[in-house]
Amino acid sequence: MFQDYKSFIPDYSQFLSILNERLPTTAWFNPDQVSRDHLELFLKHFKSEYRFLDWNNEAFSYKSKVSLGVSLPYALGQIHIQEEVSMIPGYIAKGLKPQTVLDMCSSPGNKAAQIGIELKGDNSYIIANEPKLPRHSQLKSNLLRMKIPNVIYTKYDGASFPVLKDKVDLVYADVPCSCEGTSRKNKIKKLNQKELNKLTMTQKAILKRGFENLKPGGHIIYSTCTYNPLENESIISDFLNSEMGSDGELIPVNIDGLSYSCGIHNFNSHEFNKEVEKTIRVWPHQNNSGGFFIALIQKRAHGNH
Ligand SMILES: C[S@@+](CC[C@H](N)C(=O)[O-])C[C@H]1O[C@@H](n2cnc3c(N)ncnc32)[C@H](O)[C@@H]1O
Repeated sequence: MFQDYKSFIPDYSQFLSILNERLPTTAWFNPDQVSRDHLELFLKHFKSEYRFLDWNNEAFSYKSKVSLGVSLPYALGQIHIQEEVSMIPGYIAKGLKPQTVLDMCSSPGNKAAQIGIELKGDNSYIIANEPKLPRHSQLKSNLLRMKIPNVIYTKYDGASFPVLKDKVDLVYADVPCSCEGTSRKNKIKKLNQKELNKLTMTQKAILKRGFENLKPGGHIIYSTCTYNPLENESIISDFLNSEMGSDGELIPVNIDGLSYSCGIHNFNSHEFNKEVEKTIRVWPHQNNSGGFFIALIQKRAHGNH
């Protein structure tokens, strides 16, 4: 299934081999709700094997007969279960210390919860946008359980989300994608050309509308859980090459303790803007995780858009 990507996947045989292994359960804790010492007492009490992640000391992998999802710390909103790679955009967001956030594609609310616990004070808020109504109940239950304050729920197609008068400090564009990087837990369906074209148009439109909603100096984090360069580097490259792209700067992503590769320059007949090497690709065999792609773009202080 991933043969088309063989030329740019490092250690291809290791990549194929880890896809058959069980994906570890990972979670993070909210230090305002529970101390690390208390959390460890709980984890030991349940005789679990656990390990804090090398790159994120508020996150851990966990193995036990007792499921975290039915535990008291989970019910109390002290911990949240989330895949390791999916935590990266939220981890980057925390470092940017935004006051106002727009999450364009937010359900089930993992990344919204990660930044939501950092938003303190009356002037902070997060807009959690999700166009699919059936996905709102899980989004709301997660953000309520994690006690995220000042959440505004909206239901727009991200491509036509209104351009706000009060623009925001941070936008998450964690876009719908072909999800190839989740093959360790889900069955993946290969998209046909028509489906892929529709999806990439949506991804481009969400990125563009997200950027339009940024304050000068604000950041947008574009991410997918897929390998296809046409949903990753190609979207970022087209944005940078567009008129609006001249108001944005791709910021290199550096995460100590995490293994990853940088974005690729070409794929099949497509040549990408050289800047895309500042994006990152996380392969499953680099950290025993799922697969992910992340790009961080900052809006210039004196742009036109
Ligand atoms: C990768 S998931 C988001 C995961 C979420 N950010 C999290 O961390 O929990 C992508 C979401 O985008 C939503 N979506 C699909 N089409 C969309 C569109 N046109 N605009 C905005 N969101 C869309 C999907 O329903 C899905 O909930």
